[in-house]
Amino acid sequence: MNKQEALNILNEWVNPVRSREGSQRDSDSNGVKSPNLKKHMMAVAAAMEFYARKFGQDENRWWIVGLLHDVDYEKYPDYKNGGHPYKAVEFLSDKLDEESLNAILGHATYTNTPRETKMAKTLFAVDELTGMITAVALVKPEKKLSAVDVNSVKKRFKEKKFAAGVNREEIIQGAQDLGVPLDEHIQNVIDAMINISSELGL
Ligand SMILES: [Fe+2]
Repeated sequence: MNKQEALNILNEWVNPVRSREGSQRDSDSNGVKSPNLKKHMMAVAAAMEFYARKFGQDENRWWIVGLLHDVDYEKYPDYKNGGHPYKAVEFLSDKLDEESLNAILGHATYTNTPRETKMAKTLFAVDELTGMITAVALVKPEKKLSAVDVNSVKKRFKEKKFAAGVNREEIIQGAQDLGVPLDEHIQNVIDAMINISSELGL
């Protein structure tokens, strides 16, 4: 699959980004419609591409996994009955390689799919963090990623009511499993998102 084909799938499966800027995507398990799902997937794709470059991996392949990891999230929210991410993996089974499919399964903890590869660990480590960084950017007066730094993200970690849908434990565990210090990991994901700030509207 090439990047354009992945984008075509995204556009078929996910509703266009609606005008309600700044709404946070809800956590992977509750199935609430998410106005900014596309942007979330773009952000995760950018973070995956960043880490692929850092780890000397195939940037396009990692980008595609990031882009499509939540493709069924809105259409098939009922994870208890074979919805997200099982539907996506079923649809993508003849389009992506085994490593990519396992990474997509593994980012949802309830699938109990072990995250054994660097790709799977990275997807898990960046997924929730992109949401946290977006939320921090949106409370800055300028509403820009360029105003976000590591400390401003970490400070918000402790505020439970802030971006309450973002699972802090998963971010911390994800960075640990990936073997990247948390501060460095946060900076990496900020940098990756800044690369596509205009697409994210941030
Ligand atoms: Fe996600």
